[in-house]
Amino acid sequence: MNPTTTIAVRAARQAGSVIMRSFSRLDTLTVSEKQVNDYVSEVDRNAEQAIIGTIHKAYPAHAILAEESGAHGKDDFQWVIDPLDGTTNYLHGFPQFAISIALKHRGKLETAVVYDPLRDEMFTAARGAGALLNDRRLRVTDQKGLKGALLGTGIPFRDQRYMDAYLGMLKALTQETAGIRRPGSAALDFAYVAAGRLDGFWELGLSEWDFAAGALLVQEAGGVVSDIRGGGRHLETGNVITAGVRLHRTLVETIRPHLPDALSA
Ligand code: IPD
Ligand code: CA
Ligand code: CA
Repeated sequence: MNPTTTIAVRAARQAGSVIMRSFSRLDTLTVSEKQVNDYVSEVDRNAEQAIIGTIHKAYPAHAILAEESGAHGKDDFQWVIDPLDGTTNYLHGFPQFAISIALKHRGKLETAVVYDPLRDEMFTAARGAGALLNDRRLRVTDQKGLKGALLGTGIPFRDQRYMDAYLGMLKALTQETAGIRRPGSAALDFAYVAAGRLDGFWELGLSEWDFAAGALLVQEAGGVVSDIRGGGRHLETGNVITAGVRLHRTLVETIRPHLPDALSA
């Protein structure tokens, strides 16, 4: 394992213990919703601080882009961090959430870690070196078309502008595939595409920290990540499609007729 992956794994495990410590006490905290919201915010912040602390101990000069504390520092190396992806699931005790940590060098993804602390599943990738789940090498599926495919997605829940367009995509893909899942953690959705548990995934309106690590995992597992029109602007726009090479092409073509002009790539 290269040194930056080692550090990312260490940081993810530390955040994992912060998150799991609090997860076993959710019951007592749901008495007051406000408290729960505050408490979860504390979990997010504490997990993020644990990650940043570990990274900065090893690489004090590196820049950070983290969901809770924003962008800080200026350097060719930048760590992109979502300390708890799947907050709504976590809040409800729904067991699907993860820690997502990616390292970019001059804008290019170098290292990726997505960690599911509940199942102790550590997904890692380094550019040019492949993707792993714990010690097992990952490969996307060889699914050719929609028939028989299992897809993941995210249903828009904040920005409702493109809801009708999204429902058009959902309808078309529901009619043609074996099924659609909405697990609720984009980082894990990407990791599952890399692991061949999902054949493909699409979502509108993600943030970079939701899927920067996931994108490298899929690429290193032999898959394709693109923006919603099939181009390369996914990290900027957050409108993404990912799958193995052949299915990816079909997904782009099936989604295209439903895209409103106003929706950026
Ligand atoms: C969310 C999850 C979810 C996706 C949302 C994200 P958060 O991240 O990844 O699956 O649909 O768009 O915001 O807020 O739980 O870190
Ligand atoms: Ca997220
Ligand atoms: Ca988050």
